[in-house]
Amino acid sequence: MSNSNDRVNFGSRIGAILASAGSAVGLGNIWRFPYETGNHGGAAFILLYLVCILVMGLPIMIAEFSIGRHSRANTAGSYKALAPKSAWQGIGYMGVLAGFLILSFYSVVAGWTLEYTWQAVANNLTDKTPDEFATLFTTFSQDPWRPMLWMVVFMIMTHVIIIMGVKKGIEQSSKIMMPMLFVLILVLVGCSLSLPDAEKGLTFLFKPDFSKLNPDVFLGAMGQAFFSLSLGLGCLSTYASYFGKDTNLGKTAASVAVIDTMVAIMAGVIIFPAAFSVGISPDAGPSLLFITLPNVFQMAFADMPLLAYVLSIMFYILLALAAFTSTISMHEVVTAFVNEEWKVPRKRAAVYVTLGCITLGVLASLSFGPLNDFKILGLSIFDFLDSLTSKVMLPLGGMLISIFTGWKLEQRIVWDEISNGGKLKVPLFKLYVFILKYVAPIAIGLIFVNELGLF
Ligand code: PHE
Repeated sequence: MSNSNDRVNFGSRIGAILASAGSAVGLGNIWRFPYETGNHGGAAFILLYLVCILVMGLPIMIAEFSIGRHSRANTAGSYKALAPKSAWQGIGYMGVLAGFLILSFYSVVAGWTLEYTWQAVANNLTDKTPDEFATLFTTFSQDPWRPMLWMVVFMIMTHVIIIMGVKKGIEQSSKIMMPMLFVLILVLVGCSLSLPDAEKGLTFLFKPDFSKLNPDVFLGAMGQAFFSLSLGLGCLSTYASYFGKDTNLGKTAASVAVIDTMVAIMAGVIIFPAAFSVGISPDAGPSLLFITLPNVFQMAFADMPLLAYVLSIMFYILLALAAFTSTISMHEVVTAFVNEEWKVPRKRAAVYVTLGCITLGVLASLSFGPLNDFKILGLSIFDFLDSLTSKVMLPLGGMLISIFTGWKLEQRIVWDEISNGGKLKVPLFKLYVFILKYVAPIAIGLIFVNELGLF
């Protein structure tokens, strides 16, 4: 099963937090959260999203951490060890498949961030009207070649880190990059709020209109919570298999959830005031970030073009890096699985995963252009992969993880992991088990049933 020589080990407790936060914070927060919020009508969606983080996200994250650190194996290996020869292993296999599918479409958007970094450096993101920025994006994303090439570049970058080992590359760079991203986001929040009509965006974000609630909004909010926290596919359990014995699982999970949520909300505060200010519709979909943001730089720094130039380059680089720490974590889920379960040497395992994801990624990328008319259940390949994973596979995985940890796993194991063998006090342990047994699975189940229109 696990091959300890090949396994990375995070060097420090802060390393564990940063690596997990690096996985969680990514395009899900800065790109997907704003457009999902826009598609689902704003503040009411955000409220539901926050409830999902609390009721499902946090408890299930702690469960994944416990499972991963206890078994010290890839996600499929974990269930094999904890529940030998049982159907519970399906959780692990579904997770690996979800990781593979997400990586395939996620790397397309990650590729877009490289294009925008390039455009920013070439000074092409200045002196344009909002319409011209929109056209720039459409022309680029519909082109058959450019987005595909950037996607391949991004996959190769991810591949290199995976075969180099995660500890030096990721742990170290996360320590510098995450705080920088945070600061730059704060600067942009300030810029966006200074734009004319910014209040309209804030009203959209923070003043709930409950008449907009429908089953899709519930499902969307739950899907976003799982996607953004990297939950339900064994990604955080794979990372937890590299945690040290003294890592405080509860605190680490709480830190990751808080950081992740703050980045998402701040991304909303950057995007919506700007979108309303320049007249971009909040339900523009996946293009929202890419057509809105260039306007923020241009308008907020109209008198200081050099500053606008430098900040926009920095922002796209950091966005690409935030995506990078996430693609690495997805790749790691699948590579660790192929390596440990199929007994393929780690480097070769990584090559299989990279080639597989590039193949599917090409289709996802082309679905914005030449393959746009090809639909699965009425969705483009890209949207289908996104919906299938975030709205079905991840919440379902989360539900099963919750049931597994609450009902099947020996409670002593769960307690041992959360309390670090009795060293930490866990005052709310009973409540925690209650949430895993009943609250989280029932809540997820109700949202699924609701979506099917059964009540
Ligand atoms: N949480 C990541 C983000 O928000 C995406 C992700 C999903 C990463 C699933 C790993 C696993 O960008």
